[in-house]
Amino acid sequence: MTSQPPHVVGVELEGVSETTLWTLYQRASEAARRDRVLHDPMAVDLVAALDFPFEERFGASPGWAQWQGLRARTFDREVRRFLHDHPDGTVVALGEGLETQFWRVNNGRVRWIGVDLPPVIDLRRRLLPSSPRQELVASSVADGIWLDELDRKAGVMVTAQGLLMYLEPGQVHDLIAACAARIADGALLFDAVPRWLSERTQREPLGEPTGYRPPPWRWGIDAEEIRRIGATPNVAELRRLRLPRGRGAFFGYAVPLLARVPGLGDRFFSIMLARLGRRAAT
Ligand SMILES: C[S@@+](CC[C@H](N)C(=O)[O-])C[C@H]1O[C@@H](n2cnc3c(N)ncnc32)[C@H](O)[C@@H]1O
Repeated sequence: MTSQPPHVVGVELEGVSETTLWTLYQRASEAARRDRVLHDPMAVDLVAALDFPFEERFGASPGWAQWQGLRARTFDREVRRFLHDHPDGTVVALGEGLETQFWRVNNGRVRWIGVDLPPVIDLRRRLLPSSPRQELVASSVADGIWLDELDRKAGVMVTAQGLLMYLEPGQVHDLIAACAARIADGALLFDAVPRWLSERTQREPLGEPTGYRPPPWRWGIDAEEIRRIGATPNVAELRRLRLPRGRGAFFGYAVPLLARVPGLGDRFFSIMLARLGRRAAT
């Protein structure tokens, strides 16, 4: 880490903002393992620096931790690909939370905009080093302020990792349509929960044995929703991404195998890449 973050006493995040502590904790737990699937020493340092009872609040869950590690690695891979083709491009990390992806993928030229709710941005400012190429926007992603001020000349990748499930379906559709309408050369990278599961969390909230109850997921995908997103004007291509192979029977064998079964993808967690711009002529 470039500089050790100060020791922060009394982190107070609630509701959807607190979920950033959950994902940070999972990523850090994974990154702290010898056989980790994600190298993220900054996440490990952040957890150590925060005065927050992570394990008491969230419990220990190696399965979730590995999933978060594999998800972050998939996002990193796609951001690096984008930066390979657009080395001076802009990455907008929506719902960035306490992600440390900037430092994992920084090519020394990228412009980086992080958007999150004010309490999370405040915490981020207190904890993480700043760079002249990084900007933080404290607002709801639904406000679209970040989109108005975007420099689109060198290409834009918008990422939404662990975010869209917390928005209402109408907000997700508007967000995707707004990105596609305003970004002529770029991509939108997001993950999605299956619709059946998001509906279930609205009836009976997910919960950790510790008593922690994250907010219900409001939006999820199924085949119809994927068709709808793919038909958004200026979404040139929409595809589901494969996770890197993980450890153990589930992430090492079952997940890669199930990913090959046609039609099953919509039943599970997905990571999707939408290319924004004109469709190739057929
Ligand atoms: C599950 S966390 C994911 C954080 C980070 N992307 C990661 O993967 O570690 C969800 C994040 O989305 C943010 N968020 C939720 N709704 C939001 C909104 N309407 N506008 C901006 N950020 C939002 C939360 O504050 C939180 O930081």
